[in-house]
Amino acid sequence: MKKILITGGAGFIGSHVVRLFVNKYSGYQIFNLDKLTYAGNLANLKDIENKPNYTFIKGDIVDSEFISKLFSEHKFDAVIHLAAESHVDRSISNPLEFVMTNVIGTVNLLNAAKTIWQPSTGNNGRFYHVSTDEVYGTLGETGLFTEATAYDPHSPYSASKASSDHFVRAYHDTFRIDIVISNCSNNYGSYHFPEKLIPLSIYNIKNSKPIPVYGKGENIRDWLFVEDHARAIDVIFHKAKSGTTYNIGGHNEWTNIDLIRLLCKIMDKKLNRAEGESAKLITFVKDRAGHDLRYAIDSTKLQKELGWTPSLQFEEGLEKTVEWFLSNEEWLNNVTSGEYKKYYEEQYTKR
Ligand code: NAD
Ligand code: TYD
Repeated sequence: MKKILITGGAGFIGSHVVRLFVNKYSGYQIFNLDKLTYAGNLANLKDIENKPNYTFIKGDIVDSEFISKLFSEHKFDAVIHLAAESHVDRSISNPLEFVMTNVIGTVNLLNAAKTIWQPSTGNNGRFYHVSTDEVYGTLGETGLFTEATAYDPHSPYSASKASSDHFVRAYHDTFRIDIVISNCSNNYGSYHFPEKLIPLSIYNIKNSKPIPVYGKGENIRDWLFVEDHARAIDVIFHKAKSGTTYNIGGHNEWTNIDLIRLLCKIMDKKLNRAEGESAKLITFVKDRAGHDLRYAIDSTKLQKELGWTPSLQFEEGLEKTVEWFLSNEEWLNNVTSGEYKKYYEEQYTKR
C-alpha cells in the first residue's frame, strides 16, 4: 500500500484532492496533514473521514522537528503539498506568516523528503508542489501565462509562493528529488472559505449585506471549478515527468464586476427575488494595494501532453456552487465566526 502525504487537506482545494484520492485509490493510504488554521475545517471531509485508507494528522509544517519525525515514522512514498496561507489580503496585513508557512514550511517538507528518500541511492518518492498563477505577476489586456513566463510576483502571497516554487526546483536540481509543480488559476466551488470573492459574495447576497467590489471591479481573473483542479492534480501526479511544470486553467476570464453581476442574477432566481434585487448590494470599496490587473492561463501543455480538459462551463459551475452554498447553511454559518467578521470590518470601508 502506497503512503501518500497530502498537506493542507482540510482546506478548500486540499479537501477536494483528499476526497478524490481516498475514493479513487483504495491502494493508497492517504495521510492528511493540516494545522487547522482559520481556513482548515475537518467538516470539509465528513463524508470520507471513516474510510479505512484515510488518516488525519494535526500538525504544523513550520515545525521542522515534528515534520522530520513524521517522515521518518511513516516513510511516505509521495507528498502532494497544498498547505499554505492563501489569501492575498491577509498577506498584506501579515506578510511574515506567509513566509513562515509558504516558504519555511515547504523547505521543511523538502528536507524531510530528502532524508527519507535519499535520491542519490536511486530511492525516490515524488514531491508534488501545488502553486498558483499569481507567481507570474499581472498581464495587460492581451496575452496568457505559459510555463515559460518569467516569475514577477507582486503581493506578499505570490512572492512567498514564487519563493517556494524556486526551492522545490532547487531541490530537484541540487538533490535530484523527483518533483512536479502546477500553477493553477483562481478556483471556485464547494467548501470555499467565504473570505474569497465568490463565496463571500454568495454569503453577503444571501444575507442582504453589501458586496465589496475592490476599485472599479475591472480586474480580471480566470476561474476554474475546483473539482477540475483536483482531477488535473491527479493526472499530473501520475503522469508527469520529474522536474516538469504544468499550468492549469479553464480559459475562462471574467472581470470581477461581470462575475458579480452574473452571481447576483443566479442568486435572484434561487432566492425568488425580483431580478436586479441582489445587484443593489454591489458596493465599490477601496482598491487592494498592488492589485494585479489580469490573470489568464494557457493550459495547452497540460491538455496536449496529459489529456486533461476542464469539465464544466462557468455558468453551470457557478450555479452548482450557489446551490451547494444554499443547501449547506450550517457549514456556512459555522465558518463565518466572530473573528472572521471582525477581520473583514476593515475591508468594508466605503470609498
Ligand atoms: P486554503 O487557505 O483554503 O487551505 C489551506 C490549508 O492549509 C488549510 O486547511 C490550513 O489549515 C492549512 N495550513 C495552513 N498553514 C499550515 C501549516 N503551517 N501547517 C499545516 N497546514 C497548514 O487554501 P486553498 O485555496 O485550498 O489553496 C491550497 C493550495 O492551492 C495553496 O498552496 C494555494 O497557494 C494553491 N492555489 C490556490 C488557488 C485558489 O484559487 N484558491 C489557486 C491556485 C493555487
Ligand atoms: P480573491 O478571491 O481574493 O482571489 P485572488 O486575489 O487570489 O485573485 O479575489 C479575486 C478578485 O476579486 C481579486 O481581483 C480581488 C477581488 N475582490 C473584490 O473585489 N472584493 C472582495 O471582497 C474580494 C475578497 C476580492
